[in-house]
Amino acid sequence: LEALRKGSFGAFYAYLGTVSSTQDVLKNWALDGAVEGSVVLAERQEKGRGRRGRAWASEPGHSLTFSVLLRPRLPLSSLPLLPLAAGLALCEACGVGGLKWPNDLLSPDGRKLAGVLLEAQVSGEEVAYVLLGIGLNVHRAAGLPPEAAALEEFGAVSRVLVLARLLERLEVCYARLEADSQGLLRDYRAKSHTLGHQIRVQTPQGEIRGLATDIAPDGSLVVERSGQTHRIGAGDVQLVGV
Ligand code: BTN
Repeated sequence: LEALRKGSFGAFYAYLGTVSSTQDVLKNWALDGAVEGSVVLAERQEKGRGRRGRAWASEPGHSLTFSVLLRPRLPLSSLPLLPLAAGLALCEACGVGGLKWPNDLLSPDGRKLAGVLLEAQVSGEEVAYVLLGIGLNVHRAAGLPPEAAALEEFGAVSRVLVLARLLERLEVCYARLEADSQGLLRDYRAKSHTLGHQIRVQTPQGEIRGLATDIAPDGSLVVERSGQTHRIGAGDVQLVGV
C-alpha cells in the first residue's frame, strides 16, 4: 500500500487478521487521537456490521474490509452529504456500476458490490469524528449470496490496487464536500442507479412508493407520487417492478 498510495489517507494504517469490527478498532484509535485518514483493514470480522443493525459478512482474501477515520470540519448540516461523497468515491474507484441511494455500489445488473457504514460521534454542534466503514466484494467467494456481486466479474482486479485507488478517491470526494458540494452532487446524480426509477423506500415514518426524481442539495432523496413530493433523509430503497 505504501508504494501505491497517493495523498494522505492511509498514511497510517493497520492490516489485521481477525477483529470484532474494523469500526471498533478504529474507534479506539480515534479516542487515542489518531489523525484523519487513518485506516484499519482486516481480513476477518467476528462482528462485522452493516447499516440498520444488520450483520456484514466478508470472506478473508476475497473482500476489502476497512474503516477510515474522518475528523470533518463541516457544519452538522453537511453531514448527510458525507454518505454520498463516500458512495461516489466507491463508484469512481471501482469504475463499474452505479449507486443505490445513498451509498450502496451496485453492479450493472443491480447486485450489491459494496456497502458503506458511517458512524459519527457528535458533541453539541460539533462532529468529533466519523468512522467510515467500507465492505467491498473483490473476488467471488463461494458463500457470496446471489444478490451480491464481486468486482472481478467485471474485469481483472487486485485488492491492493483497488484499496489505493479507493483511498485516493475518498480523499478527493471528501475535500469536495467543503470546496464543491454542488459539483459533487452533480457527479453523484450521474452515477445514480436510483434516479428515474419507481422505488419503494422504508423510512422511519413508514413505506413510501413513487418515482425517484432527484437528490436535493441537502443529500435527501426526492420521491414523487400523485403530485406529492416527499424528501427522504434516510431509508432503504428498493426498485419496484423490475
Ligand atoms: C451496508 O451496506 O450495510 C454497510 C456495510 C459496511 C460494512 C463495512 S466492512 C468494514 C466496516 N466494519 C464493519 O463492521 N462494517 C463496515
